[in-house]
Amino acid sequence: MQLSGLVLIAFCFFSQKAQAQLVYKFVKVECNGNASRVRNESCSLKAINWNVGVLNGELVLLGTVWNPIIQVQVFKKDYANQFKPFLIDVKLHMCQVIERKSFIPYGVMMWKILKKYTNLNHSCPYSGHLYAKDGYLTSDVLPPFPQGVYIFSFMFSDENSTHTEYVGTLKLYTEVMEKVKSRKKPKAKGN
Ligand SMILES: *[C@@H]1O[C@H](CO)[C@@H](O)[C@H](O)[C@H]1NC(C)=O
Ligand SMILES: *[C@@H]1O[C@H](CO)[C@@H](O)[C@H](O)[C@H]1NC(C)=O
Ligand SMILES: *[C@@H]1O[C@H](CO)[C@@H](O)[C@H](O)[C@H]1NC(C)=O
Ligand SMILES: *[C@@H]1O[C@H](CO)[C@@H](O)[C@H](O)[C@H]1NC(C)=O
Repeated sequence: MQLSGLVLIAFCFFSQKAQAQLVYKFVKVECNGNASRVRNESCSLKAINWNVGVLNGELVLLGTVWNPIIQVQVFKKDYANQFKPFLIDVKLHMCQVIERKSFIPYGVMMWKILKKYTNLNHSCPYSGHLYAKDGYLTSDVLPPFPQGVYIFSFMFSDENSTHTEYVGTLKLYTEVMEKVKSRKKPKAKGN
């Protein structure tokens, strides 16, 4: 499934290559946490221009997340405005990716993004105040997706040899579209 997803995305890449530049614009965000593992979680988007909305978010971990697992799932909005699973459904063992014991492509992408925009830029485990600042996606870190509206869902859990505990979820509604070029920039004021 995962490999066929990559192959299909690679196919989309080659068939879209000659076309206009794509942008991945965050349009809505939802986050929630397991109240016995997370406090004070918040997340929000700020519009920067026609092509970019940036993500800010934070939370406080109660205790320690020793072995974070991220389940990444992608959903695409169809013609009936329903979100349907879209190719990617993968479970990332982030400590292994960070320690370079796993080179799973989506894990490597995730780690690049986390290092750039969050304070999760160190090896396992994680505790305390975690945040993401002014995060956004660009076409050079992601495989090209067909144009449309997606949900990128990230479900975080903590796993040991016997238990898996849900920690929290981040859902990013993202519009994949051609870059808007000719219009004037909106005033750089955020909301
Ligand atoms: C959550 O926020 C409240 C209000 O700002 C603060 O008093 C509390 O200490 C915070 N909780 C944690 C676990 O940091
Ligand atoms: C991790 O990110 C924080 C916040 O951006 C920064 O202050 C810190 O120096 C970074 N640490 C490493 C090891 O890159
Ligand atoms: C796994 O996690 C559970 C729940 O936190 C804990 O009770 C258990 O002792 C842990 N097991 C191991 C082998 O660390
Ligand atoms: C939240 O975490 C607690 C332990 O810290 C666990 O027992 C519980 O199952 C988790 N909740 C969910 C919805 O997974």
